[in-house]
Amino acid sequence: MSGCATDAEMRHSSEDAGRVCPADYRIGVSAFSGRPELSCDTLFVVGGLYGNCFALDALELLIAAESGSVHVVLNGDIHWFDCLPEDFSEIERHVVSYRALAGNVELELCRSDDIGVGCGCAYPDCTSDAVVDRSNRIHAMLGSMLTQHPELKEPLEGRTCTAVVRVGNHRVAITHGDEKLVAGWECSRDSLQDAERQNELSAWMRANGVSVLATTHTCAPAAVVLDAGAVINNGAAGMPNFLAALYGLVTRVGVAPSPHALYRACVDGVFVRDAVRVDKSTRDRIDGDGVFVEAVPLRYDHDAYLRWFDSTWPAESPAALSYRERIVQGPTDEVADALLGGFEVADKEDTSGIGLRDTHITSD
Ligand SMILES: [Fe+2]
Repeated sequence: MSGCATDAEMRHSSEDAGRVCPADYRIGVSAFSGRPELSCDTLFVVGGLYGNCFALDALELLIAAESGSVHVVLNGDIHWFDCLPEDFSEIERHVVSYRALAGNVELELCRSDDIGVGCGCAYPDCTSDAVVDRSNRIHAMLGSMLTQHPELKEPLEGRTCTAVVRVGNHRVAITHGDEKLVAGWECSRDSLQDAERQNELSAWMRANGVSVLATTHTCAPAAVVLDAGAVINNGAAGMPNFLAALYGLVTRVGVAPSPHALYRACVDGVFVRDAVRVDKSTRDRIDGDGVFVEAVPLRYDHDAYLRWFDSTWPAESPAALSYRERIVQGPTDEVADALLGGFEVADKEDTSGIGLRDTHITSD
């Protein structure tokens, strides 16, 4: 499925730009076996911000609502639509507060010589040539802007592509694409449904002592509980992920659940509902030392974001042609499409979330 299957000798051909996975995107086998670099009660993994500064404002609200220690890891493709220098620098101004990983967008922006891989997305065959071409053009515009403003590129250089964070007693592995390639597609919705792939991931998680693998890159959320733990792909933090649901999605891993989760699973613990009563309200807890793995809506100011997007990307621009419809009404996917086993939709009263406004097109 992945463009990474293209023969190595074809990698410098311009016709492969956007489909080839560069050889230096390979992640070392020991990347996730070391000590965690951070430890916390709650971890947010924010993949695919795609230059949406309004989503960072919403993220700050989510963080402020947490108790206990909180860390945030932005796992790549932080930039995309922010092709104007003032927007790019505004994103970076926020990012310094968090642990930022590089995705393919950032890696290709930092590359000193053009090796012909375009945006580095390594799109699979099912992605149309027109979409791939437009992504290459968006990335080229970002690159041209940074050529004019090299000081904006400096914060990106040297960013790593992986991290391990401890949440409670569990190790969470974080990457952009999959555990093998920065732009890998083997944590896509399709791949995660494959039994052989599930076995491969469980073996990898056991070998690395990992309970949760958090990824992004495919722009389509997916979540599954395997024998060895949970794999969760947040889709996009900076764009809608479901039909008529005008919010981004982030991954949250916590020792306690979030009242704002859209769906969740519990890893290595027994999820006990209504077991603890505090001040006439109920809350959930885990028996044991497990962690909650959740997808949480990132309810950015949709109207403000759309105004900004339209002011930056005219109707015939590559970004507008590829993404505006999704930004305005979401993709055709439903939440159930992302749930591949072991995850459950959170209670209805828990899904209102924190945000600036109701970001559903229609009430439900
Ligand atoms: Fe990506």
